[in-house]
This record gives sequence, structure tokens and C-alpha cells, in this order.
Amino acid sequence: MFLQHAPLHIYFSLLISSIIQREKMASSCSLSSTVIVMSVLVLFMRSTSAHHLTTNFYSKSCPKVFFAVNSVVKSAVSKEPRMGASLVRLFFHDCFVNGCDGSILLDDTSSFKGEKTAAPNNNSVRGFHVVDDIKSEVEKVCPGIVSCADILAIAARDSVVLLGGPGWEVKLGRRDSKTANFTAANNGSFIPAPTSNLSTLISSFRVQGLSADDMVALSGAHTIGKARCTSFRSRIYNETNIDSSFAESRRRNCPSASGSGDDNLAPLDVQTPDCFDKKYFQNLMNKKGLLHSDQVLFNGGSTDSLVKQYGRSTKAFNSDFVAAMIKMGDIKPLTGSHGEIRKNCRKPN
Ligand code: HEM
Ligand SMILES: *[C@@H]1O[C@H](CO)[C@@H](O)[C@H](O)[C@H]1NC(C)=O
Ligand SMILES: *[C@@H]1O[C@H](CO)[C@@H](O)[C@H](O)[C@H]1NC(C)=O
Ligand SMILES: *[C@@H]1O[C@H](CO)[C@@H](O)[C@H](O)[C@H]1NC(C)=O
Ligand SMILES: *[C@@H]1O[C@H](CO)[C@@H](O)[C@H](O)[C@H]1NC(C)=O
Ligand SMILES: *[C@@H]1O[C@H](CO)[C@@H](O)[C@H](O)[C@H]1NC(C)=O
Repeated sequence: MFLQHAPLHIYFSLLISSIIQREKMASSCSLSSTVIVMSVLVLFMRSTSAHHLTTNFYSKSCPKVFFAVNSVVKSAVSKEPRMGASLVRLFFHDCFVNGCDGSILLDDTSSFKGEKTAAPNNNSVRGFHVVDDIKSEVEKVCPGIVSCADILAIAARDSVVLLGGPGWEVKLGRRDSKTANFTAANNGSFIPAPTSNLSTLISSFRVQGLSADDMVALSGAHTIGKARCTSFRSRIYNETNIDSSFAESRRRNCPSASGSGDDNLAPLDVQTPDCFDKKYFQNLMNKKGLLHSDQVLFNGGSTDSLVKQYGRSTKAFNSDFVAAMIKMGDIKPLTGSHGEIRKNCRKPN
């Protein structure tokens, strides 16, 4: 009885410390999502099937995994709030290339070229050293038990919570790939480019089993973090569905000539870049989406109404975001005897 309830108990302790921490670290972020967090939490699953992800996967083998992950994420995010955004994005880019299998974490080897230098990732994805730090903490408490793929899933959830967003119980039991695929990561039909139109965005999520509505909710992750000039240059110089003073202010740190200032950064959410909130959707309604792929979600098309709904309701956004993150985390996991539990997230064993 005690063992069965231990993970839930531990989870609640973690949640409470997260809430307290959230007030300390992100005091400018709204706390209104707490009620949702509690209601999502009580959906406690018991299944132990070897081939499906479950929320209690490590309840006997590594109940301390949540503390170990959270302590490292908390310290990284308190040093640099953007790191929370970077960890969320790592999970997305992992899941969209051959499933949530930790493949994005692998360095190049003599037998394959990894995903880190593929177009959407090169000079762009970050947080690998934080994942390494998490992995060493986790290996200290439960050596050889927890996959790098699951670490990404937990770290993404913890990051969202620390930046003021909703929490959820993370489904676990993924194993790690033994290889990575540069070609797939580089192919825009998997990880979509910021130049994508609405139909391309919808179809690239559909390929992964995610709906257009999931795509809109998940794009709400752009309420945190930053983008490089090269990702939004053509939008701020050449597009007309953009607020002119917003475009003007972004142009000041992003020169029009390609190659100059390519890596200069701007927040994806012009209002509250370190808070996980619904302001991203309000920005779209005000033509202040930073990426072309952001603004197409509110540009007279089929997703306008959902953007408006999320812009109005934190509750609707949070609950759809949580459901879509759980769905994304279910993309083609390696389970059972497939894959391995890497010792070092950067290398196959
Ligand atoms: C809908 C299609 C999407 C496109 C086209 C897209 C594209 C991008 C681009 C171009 C950047 C900036 C990269 C750079 O300039 O270095 C970015 C950043 C980011 N993306 Fe997305 N993204 C999409 C969906 C998502 C999803 C589903 C998530 C997570 C659930 C996500 C999370 C993030 C985060 C958190 C950042 C900021 C990262 C940081 O500051 O390190 N994005 N995205
Ligand atoms: C990744 O970026 C580096 C540094 O900007 C560059 O030298 C390299 O060619 C890029 N790699 C790929 C595969 O494009
Ligand atoms: C890598 O992914 C591509 C899909 O873009 C696929 O055609 C190829 O077979 C994959 N390579 C390996 C080694 O799995
Ligand atoms: C990208 O992947 C799609 C779907 O697997 C495939 O049809 C297409 O040929 C690939 N494109 C490139 C450039 O590899
Ligand atoms: C969207 O972009 C794709 C790929 O660039 C293109 O083939 C398609 O025609 C575009 N769709 C619309 C509606 O503009
Ligand atoms: C804007 O569009 C013009 C005409 O297509 C093109 O020559 C120019 O390079 C574009 N500028 C940017 C910054 O994308």
C-alpha cells in the first residue's frame, strides 16, 4: 500500500516545492494555473504494461528520479530562465525525429552523423550540458535505470512549471536509441521550418499523429524562449501582416543583410518571455508573432478561432497544452527490449 502510493506522495512534495519555487523565481508570472495542476495530477495511472508508457514506471526502480531531475532543472532555470525554454524545445525536436528516443542527444560517431548539426538544430538547440548534469544526478541515485529520453520528458515538464505554466504527470518508460539520423532531422517534413505556411505546419504535425489543434496548443510553447535573427529576418522586413512598430523594433537588432547578425536574439513572446502564459496568443491577435510560422496561426485561416480562445482563456490553453504534450511524448517510444538505457546521454553504450 505504502509503496504503491509513494510516487504520488513524492510527486506532491515536488509539486509543492515547485509552486513555492515558482513564486520565488518567476514572481511576475501568474499563478492562476495551480488549480489546473492539481486536477490534472489526480489522474493517477496504475498500468504496468511493458509496451506502454506509464506515469509510475519508475515508482519502484527509481522513485527519486523526480527530485534528481527537478533539482538540476531548478538551478539551471534560476541561473537562466531561457534554459527552461531550451529544454522544452529539445524534447520537441527529439520526439519529431524517429520518436521520443533521446536521439537528439547523441554526438556524431564514426557510424552515424547525429541530429545536432541538422538545419533546425545547428547553432540553435541548447541545453545539452544541463541534460548531462541531470543524467549524472540520476545515475547517482539509480545507476542504469532511467533513460535519457525520459529525462527529456521530465525536464520539459519541470521547465514549464518553473516558468509559471501548468504541471502534469509525465508518462515514462521510454528507452534510448542506439543511433540518430541527421537526414531525418534535416528534412523539413519532420521538424517544420519557421517559413512554413499553415498547411505545411498542419501536415507536419499530422505525420506525427498530432492534430491541427494540438499544433496550435503546442506552438504556445513560444510563450517562452528566443529566436535568432536568421529565423525571423524575412518576416520583419518583408511581411505585411506584422505590427509596424513591432517590426521596426525587431529590425534594430536584426540587420536585413543575410549573414550579418544572424545569431542576434529576440524573445518569441514580446511581452513576457520568461513566463509560460497565454500572451503568445494575444501577440498573434495583435500581429506581433515573431516567426512567420507563428503568425500563420492567426492570419484569417482555420486556426484563428482557437488562437482567440487560448488568448482569452489560460484554462483552455493550459489543459490543451498539457494534453498535447502528453500526446507528443507518446510518439514512437522504444519500449520493452528495444533500445537501451544509455550511461551517457551523448553516446550509445
Ligand atoms: C509549429 C511548428 C514550430 C516551428 C516552425 C518552430 C520553430 C522554432 C524556431 C525557428 C525557433 C527559434 C530557433 C532559433 O532561431 O534558433 C523556435 C524556438 C523555440 N521553440 Fe519552436 N517551433 C515550432 C513548434 C514548437 C513546439 C511544438 C515546441 C514545444 C512544445 C516549441 C518550442 C520552442 C521553444 C521553447 C523555443 C525557444 C528555445 C530557446 O529559447 O532556446 N516549438 N521554434
Ligand atoms: C553548423 O554550424 C557550424 C558553425 O556555424 C558550421 O560550421 C557547420 O557547417 C554547420 N553544420 C552543418 C551540418 O550545416
Ligand atoms: C533516416 O531517415 C530517413 C528519412 O528521412 C530514412 O529515409 C533513412 O532510412 C533513415 N536512416 C536510417 C539509417 O535509419
Ligand atoms: C523527407 O521525408 C519525406 C517523408 O519521409 C520524404 O518523402 C522526402 O523525400 C524527404 N525529403 C528529403 C529531401 O529527403
Ligand atoms: C504551403 O507551402 C508548401 C511548401 O512550400 C507549398 O507546396 C504549398 O503550395 C503552400 N500552400 C499554400 C496554401 O500556400
Ligand atoms: C525581401 O524580399 C525581396 C524581394 O523578394 C528580396 O529581394 C529580399 O532579399 C527580401 N529581404 C529579406 C530580408 O528577406
